[in-house]
Amino acid sequence: MVREWDPRTASSAEIASLLDTLNAVLAVDLPQDPPWQESSLREYLSEVMPGERRISWVTQAEPAANGMAGAILGQVHVLLLGDIGVLEVLVHPAARRTGLGRDLVRVAARRVYQEGFQSIGVEVVGDTPAVAFYESLGFAREYVETRSVLELSGVDWVELAEMATGIGAGYHLEFCPGGPPDDLIEAYARAKAEVRDVDDGELRPSSYDPERLRDSLDCLHRRGMKPYIVLALHEQTGEVAGLTEVVVPAQHPTRADQYDTIVVQDHRGYGIDRAIKARMLLELRSAEPQLTEVQTWNAQANEAMLKVNAELGYRPDREWCEYSVDVAELVHRLDAPH
Ligand SMILES: CC(C)(COP(=O)(O)OP(=O)(O)OC[C@H]1O[C@@H](n2cnc3c(N)ncnc32)[C@H](O)[C@@H]1OP(=O)(O)O)[C@@H](O)C(=O)NCCC(=O)NCCS
Repeated sequence: MVREWDPRTASSAEIASLLDTLNAVLAVDLPQDPPWQESSLREYLSEVMPGERRISWVTQAEPAANGMAGAILGQVHVLLLGDIGVLEVLVHPAARRTGLGRDLVRVAARRVYQEGFQSIGVEVVGDTPAVAFYESLGFAREYVETRSVLELSGVDWVELAEMATGIGAGYHLEFCPGGPPDDLIEAYARAKAEVRDVDDGELRPSSYDPERLRDSLDCLHRRGMKPYIVLALHEQTGEVAGLTEVVVPAQHPTRADQYDTIVVQDHRGYGIDRAIKARMLLELRSAEPQLTEVQTWNAQANEAMLKVNAELGYRPDREWCEYSVDVAELVHRLDAPH
């Protein structure tokens, strides 16, 4: 039985049970990833950007189930944004291959269809059962990125400090814990807007105007994800020439997520990319002493960025793919006899 579920009002026992299922999934699908903690998990599941909606459903174990009575065995949520629904499904390893994943997607897909959306997108981690699952449902691969992980224990901090200062004359770096300061937010948004064409895929839209950017930072904070930013400022114009963003999530505070790194076209070739990323790692080392790893996602075609990441010590880990499907086709397929 799949039922709609609101993480805002869910009992603490349900949140704890979902966390257990998530960690059981991670242990089999991504055993190198740190397990999640409960801090801000409810907020992580509830909070959205203005204009977006997230709808969730769960399946619980039957009261008679062996040792798992009432446990949340499966969960699906769909984030409705723009003209796309972004789906996430989770089935406990002990409950897989019984059709539960398919049931969860069916319920979510019907709702997305009723709400008038055209397509559903999903992030799929390479070398996990999710690949065969989504392909069996007719999802097609749109975009592939590589996730890379940097182990901080292997970093040469002296060399890194040199990288952080190896920047062309006329630029200086600024560390901004929490987000860009108010007086720089417009320049920050301009830098992001300028490189939007080469930005990553559609499932992780960035924010290009100052208001949207503030909303996005507020949303991150509410979800328990602490942003850190390093800016490269062009002294002559005061423009933001480059920026890099890292988020430390309360749910897995030993592994940070490196988000966007951007160097504006006119300012390329001055070592800004390497310097801002190196400075970020140096700052994180003192601001977040519990941190042991940083992960990042890059398009495989982005050779310049991959080269800098390799110099910093990032090691490619997995393919991270975006799949999508036409909603009407998906609903039709799921309603047909299997
Ligand atoms: C992907 C996932 C949702 C599938 O759940 P499930 O309940 O096992 O899926 P179903 O039983 O509904 O399977 C439907 C179909 O998908 C395909 N499929 C699912 N798992 C498969 C596997 N391991 N190998 C091959 N095909 C598979 C099959 O075609 C299956 O139909 P069949 O069993 O009749 O052959 C589940 O494995 C999961 O939760 N994975 C983690 C997803 C995730 O987001 N992780 C993020 C952190 S890694």
